[in-house]
Amino acid sequence: MKIALLGFGTVGSHFYELAREQDAVTVAAVLSRRPRPELSCTVTSDFDEIVRDPEIDTVVEAIGGLEPAFSYVAAALRAGKNVVTANKQLMCAHYDELLELAHEHDACLRCTAAAGGGIPWLTSLARTAEMDEVSAVEGILNGTTNYILNAMTEDGLGYAEALEKAQELGLAEKDPTADVEGLDTRRKLVLSANLAFGVSLREEDVPCIGITQIGKREVRLAKARGLTFKLVGRAERVNGKISAYVCPTLYPDSAPEAHMTGAENLISLYSERIGKQSFTGEGAGGFPTASNVLADCLAIARGGCSAYYTDKHAPCELDNSAAEAEWLMRTDAAILSGRKPTAEQFASYESYKASDSNVPLLARLAGGAKW
Ligand code: HSE
Repeated sequence: MKIALLGFGTVGSHFYELAREQDAVTVAAVLSRRPRPELSCTVTSDFDEIVRDPEIDTVVEAIGGLEPAFSYVAAALRAGKNVVTANKQLMCAHYDELLELAHEHDACLRCTAAAGGGIPWLTSLARTAEMDEVSAVEGILNGTTNYILNAMTEDGLGYAEALEKAQELGLAEKDPTADVEGLDTRRKLVLSANLAFGVSLREEDVPCIGITQIGKREVRLAKARGLTFKLVGRAERVNGKISAYVCPTLYPDSAPEAHMTGAENLISLYSERIGKQSFTGEGAGGFPTASNVLADCLAIARGGCSAYYTDKHAPCELDNSAAEAEWLMRTDAAILSGRKPTAEQFASYESYKASDSNVPLLARLAGGAKW
């Protein structure tokens, strides 16, 4: 397999290093804005050179963001080249279009590293969805918020201090919005739900609450009840409707989710005949993420890969009305808890948000947690 690697940041450089150990793949070209004399392959800043090169059969996109990543990936697929990416933002925003391009041009498109970092989550999910009916996917899908919430719970830090520490460690970005507001979790959830249920959800339809309303006081109150905050995405099929949302979630100390430290992820799927399967590991970082990118390349090189993990991607209206959960909501006036339909709970959160002087806190109680 002859690969062109687009981008040489954290994921790209770690991928380059890992690929050198494999006989089945060769990085023949790197797309980089600046010269990289240390690399022993072609380095170019001209993508057209790559897309026109008949020797290149696979493009690894490690640029991130929407543009120029989308234009490059679409052009590579149109040229019949396989594409491997870790870019969840790109995959979510252009899901149908990219799957169709891969089908149309007889190319393979893989993005295992886009959800779960180094965990073979999407491939395992696809394997199960092929033979069993998946009823739900749920988990801690973001390493940065797991680190922040863990530092608040275990070290007693406030939100701002914990975020600063995550930034110092290079986990959180200078602008941490995508992580702390739950957007990164939502993208990974949408990719997971699409695969699990053979649908195509719109990212912006999925209600999403991040962790910025969780302070020292909330963590202390939760801890006193033996509960731990995590940011969790959940999608399920209820009465034929697909429900999905991202929000802070409280787990009892007995739940494995409560014990995830650092940038770890823990993601579970529930299916009719197999039951529950859980996957845990490093959800972020150069080598874990690059390993999943490499695994996708090796799978394609071995042959027998279909265009995407699934060919089902029916357009789907998200509907949270049939799903129910145990909820906890702190408003200006009270702390309310109880079992409620999910759509109703999010609507009530939005109305308190519009009328209260403080932004309310909404959290799901999971794993048998009681307030
Ligand atoms: N910002 C992401 C996280 C990186 O913290 O999980 C991996 O997708």
